[in-house]
Amino acid sequence: MSDWQRVASAADVRDGEGLPVMLGDTPIALYRVDGRIVAIDDVCTHEFAVLSQGFVTDGIIECPLHAAQFEIASGRCLSGPATQDLRAYEVRLEGDDVYVALTSGARS
Ligand code: FES
Repeated sequence: MSDWQRVASAADVRDGEGLPVMLGDTPIALYRVDGRIVAIDDVCTHEFAVLSQGFVTDGIIECPLHAAQFEIASGRCLSGPATQDLRAYEVRLEGDDVYVALTSGARS
């Protein structure tokens, strides 16, 4: 069973950009992908850049520092120099409130 934490209002999650939020002590980012809200780690697995400051194109986030690419819906690393996937988190909507599970692992 997961513990859930409210992290944002759904209205604040906009198409084409990441919304950085904290999940406990962990920086994560919320994105809209095909109309649904997803949550992934906000720190690049290469050298710790903040990914929500990067560039979103067609469901992919590109790291602002060295241009590694990750699939937003799953956190999967698509191109280097990063080699490790990002963690993805379960997301639940209650009205306009976005809740994220405190445990990771929701891959789609
Ligand atoms: S810090 Fe993200 S690719 Fe280097």
